[in-house]
Amino acid sequence: MKNILVTGGAGFIGSNFVRYLLKNYEDIRIVNLDLLTYAGNLDNLSDVSNDSRYSFCRGDIHDRALVEQLFDRYGFDTVVNFAAESHVDRSIANPDIFLTTNVMGTLTLLDVAKRHWKLDPDDKYSREFKEGVKYLQVSTDEVYGALGETGMFTETTPLAPNSPYSASKASADLVVRSYDKTYGMPVNITRCSNNYGPYQFPEKLIPLMINNCLNGKPLPVYGDGMQIRDWLYVEDHCAAIAAVLEKGRLGEVYNIGGNNERANIEIVKLIIHDTGRSEELIEHVRDRPGHDRRYAIDNTKITSELGWSPKYTFQTGMASTVEWYLHHRDWMDKIVSGEYMKYYEKMYANNALS
Ligand code: NAD
Ligand code: DAU
Repeated sequence: MKNILVTGGAGFIGSNFVRYLLKNYEDIRIVNLDLLTYAGNLDNLSDVSNDSRYSFCRGDIHDRALVEQLFDRYGFDTVVNFAAESHVDRSIANPDIFLTTNVMGTLTLLDVAKRHWKLDPDDKYSREFKEGVKYLQVSTDEVYGALGETGMFTETTPLAPNSPYSASKASADLVVRSYDKTYGMPVNITRCSNNYGPYQFPEKLIPLMINNCLNGKPLPVYGDGMQIRDWLYVEDHCAAIAAVLEKGRLGEVYNIGGNNERANIEIVKLIIHDTGRSEELIEHVRDRPGHDRRYAIDNTKITSELGWSPKYTFQTGMASTVEWYLHHRDWMDKIVSGEYMKYYEKMYANNALS
């Protein structure tokens, strides 16, 4: 049986991952450690919360005493770290918490796992770990920085993060790498492109545009809208992480992406079309400072080594995403009726093009 600590499991990708594991693996126990920040939402897991293989603990990955207690109690053999501050725009306004959670929180998890998994934790020269343990860091393609019109990120592309968010994720990746190189700890890092699908917090492009379309609100497109992202349906990301957990070579980085580059404006127009709205809702606003122009993932390593490939095309993924939001308006309304509106008003105030 796999005994997994999933952190950040009440967020967008983490909750989809918990659901994916429960659906696809019988012999499993999952503890979800999540602080329930503005982005964490237990409604994301309401359909699985009574599953006897699953338990939830509210807490901070940076709280060493708590993480120690959880390891003592459950004896995890696997850690999958999703917990993070994840929104680039918020990192531009308030970088501190990004460094605290994304870097120091990762260090805490790694260090507690090392102490529990190392065969002789007091011998600084020993590199021996228990059989079958693994720490997986869920990272992002943003650590590589931005691309011009051509080229793709491979696992050996130098790290060149441009936002406080991506700088914190790149820093965390380097700490994870150091635990492999220095201590011989069994780790993997995955770097995925932009995800979309059910349960994504509506600060991110796709759910924000869907919500605004459904409510007839203006659609704030940053700059010319020609920035390119490489979109992947969230369930495909979950399957890729599961493949890396099972078969990933220790110490390796795996890029994850679906070869699906789209300009933002193309996505916004598709959502307008699918929700029956008019392009007159589009409002070009001032660009994000330091906005990365283009991301694209070369996924050759994970497809050839681990046999993973995406199951969803952009058409099937977007159709099921828009449908999901249309059928879960109560989920969205609950979020946007709270603190969200204050965030939205502050974030999108004074950004009209001069
Ligand atoms: P999210 O913001 O939806 O969820 C983050 C979760 O982490 C929330 O449930 C939040 O409550 C929790 N959390 C935050 N700080 C915490 C702390 N100190 N202790 C415990 N829990 C805490 O994020 P997401 O989009 O699901 O992203 C998950 C991970 O995947 C992140 O590490 C992100 O960098 C990475 N990632 C995201 C994407 C994407 O497109 N969304 C792509 C590639 C990688
Ligand atoms: O590439 C992976 C990353 O993708 C993850 O590591 C991040 O956690 C995730 O948030 C995402 O980052 P982006 O900055 O690419 O995602 P976001 O949804 O914020 O924006 C997508 C694009 O859309 C980006 O070019 C900015 C643009 N945008 C976004 C918003 C919210 C707009 O034009 N208008 C908007 O209102």
